[in-house]
Amino acid sequence: MTHIVDQVSFGAIVQVRDRLLEQQARGRKVLRLESGDPSFDIPVHVREAMEKALRDGHTHYTASTGIPILRKAIYQKVTTENKLTVPNDDHVVVTNGAMHGLYILFRAMLEEGDEVILPDPMWTEIAENIRLGGGKPVAVRLREENGYQYDPAEIEAAITPRTKAIFVNTPQNPIGVVASRATLEAIAQIAERHNLLLVSDEAYEHVLYDGAEHVSLGSLPAAQNRTISVYSMSKTYAMSGLRLGYLVVNDPLLLERIKKLVRCTINGVNSVTQYGAAAALTGPQDATKAMAQEYQKRRDILFDALEEAPYLKAFKPGGAFYLWARILPEWPGYDGKRDDWSMTNYLIDAAGIGSSPGSAFGPAGRDHIRFAFSCSTAQVEEAARLLPDVLAKAGK
Ligand SMILES: Cc1ncc(COP(=O)(O)O)c(C=O)c1O
Repeated sequence: MTHIVDQVSFGAIVQVRDRLLEQQARGRKVLRLESGDPSFDIPVHVREAMEKALRDGHTHYTASTGIPILRKAIYQKVTTENKLTVPNDDHVVVTNGAMHGLYILFRAMLEEGDEVILPDPMWTEIAENIRLGGGKPVAVRLREENGYQYDPAEIEAAITPRTKAIFVNTPQNPIGVVASRATLEAIAQIAERHNLLLVSDEAYEHVLYDGAEHVSLGSLPAAQNRTISVYSMSKTYAMSGLRLGYLVVNDPLLLERIKKLVRCTINGVNSVTQYGAAAALTGPQDATKAMAQEYQKRRDILFDALEEAPYLKAFKPGGAFYLWARILPEWPGYDGKRDDWSMTNYLIDAAGIGSSPGSAFGPAGRDHIRFAFSCSTAQVEEAARLLPDVLAKAGK
């Protein structure tokens, strides 16, 4: 039997990043559209709160599930903005990014062989964290012809006696689709009918375009008592490197297990980051709005370029900062291959443009490509300028 950790990959995006960095080190200009890391600085008041925390000597162990002022700020935010029903701030657990939150959540929730339904394509780490928790990911395909909405009927058809939970992510990585209220209501009702848990990953809750509405799954009556909500400060406040996320867990047994796992894995998030996060949540929110506006501008620039480029059919995302495109059968290929990796490799070699091959996100991602527009506007503009021509020259 292979060790459970040996089943985890090193990640396609890391491979692309390494190639780009290698080219950059050799003096080549590269455009970093391969991964989702906000280009912005953290808001000034967040930096100041962190500097003050350092000056005030807040450099010791904290309460392992988070400092009280942060947990209170999160409780306020999730009960008012996300409209979650939460008994008190003891049900909020601060984690080392949403990634760590997901890891301990699946570890706490699953027993060997339990199944979790998730969309395909999906950010790779979800299936890997389900496996690390002893579970089995069960994929439900997101279909272009349905505008990539998660299909409740297909979810229900995937349920077996071993199904423990349905994982939902909106806005979604890698497609950028925003789940409609009707889709979420239907999923909540399925979960209620089959007595399943719901995991709601809302890492991109504030990265929304064209006035799209973010609905928190846990706010829906049928979902209220069965949802574990997962949030991140990485995208909303550009705090990706500072590593802070949080879970909202109503179920007392799950909460108890999660608290034990926090103690045994990190025993509390970096104290200084926690003060920054409290300032981010309680302070002015204009930086978040300004970032979303800038992302929308980048989305439009890149989408228009892909519309003009041959061999791709792009989907216009309603949220998150990814552009997902289907590679058309006419793609001539590169280096003797015609798959999604061949397009990613071609764009690196021909123009120094980073992207992620769709197959990195699951079988349904095959023959697709993802461009992240979280790098600077200048880089997105440059990539948009180059892409139509570079693709047109492929195979010639
Ligand atoms: C869907 C989704 N959830 C969670 C995360 C993790 O965010 P964090 O930086 O808080 O670990 C990401 C990061 O890319 C993501 O795409």
